[in-house]
Amino acid sequence: MAISSSSWALLFFLAILLSHGVFKLEASHNVYTNLQVSESVPAEQPYRTSYHFQPPKNWINGPMIYKGLYHLFYQYNLKGAVWGNIVWAHSTSTDLVNWTPHDPAIYPSQPSDINGCWSGSTTILPNGKPVIFYTGIDPQNRQVQNLAMPKNLSDPFLREWVKLTKNPLMAPAQTNRINSSSFRDPTTAWRGPDNRWRIIIGSKRDRRGLAILYRSRDFLNWVKAQHPLHSAKGNGMWECPDFFPVAVDSPIGVDTSVIGNKVKHVLKVSLDDTKHEYYTIGTYAIKKDKYIPDEGSVESDAGLRYDYGKFYASKTFFDSVKRRRILWGWINESSSVNDDINKGWAGVQAIPRTLLLDKSGKQLIQWPVPEIEKLRINQVNFSNKLLKGGSVLKVPKVTATQADVEISFKISGLEKAEVLDPTWTNPQILCSQKGASVKSSLGPFGLLVLASNGLKEYTAVFFRIFKGHNKYVVLLCSDQSRSSLKQDNDKTTYGVFLNVDLVHETLSLRSLIDHSIVESFGGKGKACITARVYPTLAIGDGAYLFAFNNGTQDVEIANLNAWSMKKAKIN
Ligand SMILES: *[C@@H]1O[C@H](CO)[C@@H](O)[C@H](O)[C@H]1NC(C)=O
Ligand SMILES: *[C@@H]1O[C@H](CO)[C@@H](O)[C@H](O)[C@H]1NC(C)=O
Ligand SMILES: *[C@@H]1O[C@H](CO)[C@@H](O)[C@H](O)[C@H]1NC(C)=O
Ligand SMILES: *[C@@H]1O[C@H](CO)[C@@H](O)[C@H](O)[C@H]1NC(C)=O
Ligand SMILES: *[C@@H]1O[C@H](CO)[C@@H](O)[C@H](O)[C@H]1NC(C)=O
Repeated sequence: MAISSSSWALLFFLAILLSHGVFKLEASHNVYTNLQVSESVPAEQPYRTSYHFQPPKNWINGPMIYKGLYHLFYQYNLKGAVWGNIVWAHSTSTDLVNWTPHDPAIYPSQPSDINGCWSGSTTILPNGKPVIFYTGIDPQNRQVQNLAMPKNLSDPFLREWVKLTKNPLMAPAQTNRINSSSFRDPTTAWRGPDNRWRIIIGSKRDRRGLAILYRSRDFLNWVKAQHPLHSAKGNGMWECPDFFPVAVDSPIGVDTSVIGNKVKHVLKVSLDDTKHEYYTIGTYAIKKDKYIPDEGSVESDAGLRYDYGKFYASKTFFDSVKRRRILWGWINESSSVNDDINKGWAGVQAIPRTLLLDKSGKQLIQWPVPEIEKLRINQVNFSNKLLKGGSVLKVPKVTATQADVEISFKISGLEKAEVLDPTWTNPQILCSQKGASVKSSLGPFGLLVLASNGLKEYTAVFFRIFKGHNKYVVLLCSDQSRSSLKQDNDKTTYGVFLNVDLVHETLSLRSLIDHSIVESFGGKGKACITARVYPTLAIGDGAYLFAFNNGTQDVEIANLNAWSMKKAKIN
């Protein structure tokens, strides 16, 4: 993230910043050396996305950066659709939608990164100069932290990066008790009121997840703080930590160094053990240099997550031009390694999302950046349409493989909702047990996306309403169990309890559909679920979009708006 820029910003585009991130991987990860041959990509590509970022082939897995010109740096295998040979690939964009590729920005070239250039972040220094901190793998296979700077600040694309000869700037040692294979993913730096820079690095000690804190006065000499910024027991390795402020009661994003009583702080970590990310909201106690999660925070993936489907190694950055904080995550495949090799690529970036603190102060709100809406064409809409129990309704004239759809519902007869058993506390398990074909009174109702004619294949994204102890409880599910006739995909059903007040708020859902990805936003961004699916019939003209209600009670569609999406220019 960043600290905005000055002189440089006047050139060509204004600039901004970025952070970037990503990625993971520890020494134990499989490296499929024998498979790393770059072959030509097949012409038939039914699962290739049209408006979600992905490189032409091979493995992508990092997030992004920016500066008036948005920069996306991502972890990329130049040689295969499996993990290995990781470099920092680089693309830029003026709108977060269309992307121009550049040569890799960082690749192994000095002892401190000779065995790999793993994830990291960018920081924009007060003079406008961006720098990249990243994890390098040294000749002893230790994880160390390196700094790189642009070679030519007059090049608007910042194509070439120079590494410090002084690298590494942070390394594990006997004296600092840092585990050399669990020390990675430096964050964007922030500056405290004492003018010292701070950075955290993901780590662990035994089963305790750690955000190791370093401080520096000059950005070159870094000293490890006595205590981590934060740690949590039983978490295992923390990858890709992210630490940033969010404004209270304001729709405006703030720079990473902002502190004070108008902001809360967010700490997000990626759990290597479960491949889930969770975040907490809390206070940054600057005197002690510690992060204190708000009371009641759940510090595990049973707590708050950016996304309850697939979404990992994410990073945010502060867009100082549009004054918003943007979140990017990486979405892996749910297909077999063989399928990935056959199609020649693996991994997609989620649509960038703006991130805000909810009015309640208790969770974040995420929403696709508005720029994506310029891809919308051929709007189809209707309002106040009854959706009878047990019915489906085809949404006509939409390119169902490539669409943006928003639907909202009016629910009456809430008192008829099924009673929530107090033991049903795990939403994902509840969604798996009560999938799209299990009827209750209010639900399942929602969308059938990437559906074939005759519904042999479909992905169901839906709501189910329960009567809880003293309030109505809404479950949002993404059910992939019938997404493909092919057997060997991961078809896990995902779910989350959605914090909406049905008495005062409408119940809404938006899904971004792009061939093999379905990114869903419930309750105007209160909960997100991203799924990967590989239909065999619901491809091309064989794909349809439906609204459905498989409950016994009728519900009313208040509004439905669907758009076909144009193809973005991606690399
Ligand atoms: C720096 O970039 C600018 C703009 O692309 C270019 O005109 C100039 O020649 C570059 N300078 C060097 C030393 O490469
Ligand atoms: C260091 O981390 C590695 C990788 O997770 C783990 O296998 C090893 O046991 C750790 N070593 C110590 C001393 O904790
Ligand atoms: C990628 O997807 C597979 C299968 O869907 C899952 O088991 C794995 O944990 C995922 N990895 C990450 C880093 O998300
Ligand atoms: C419905 O779609 C039409 C175009 O098909 C558009 O002109 C109109 O504004 C839309 N109505 C709403 C309420 O969005
Ligand atoms: C609706 O429920 C019926 C009966 O449980 C089931 O056969 C059907 O497949 C369900 N429809 C959808 C779209 O899942």
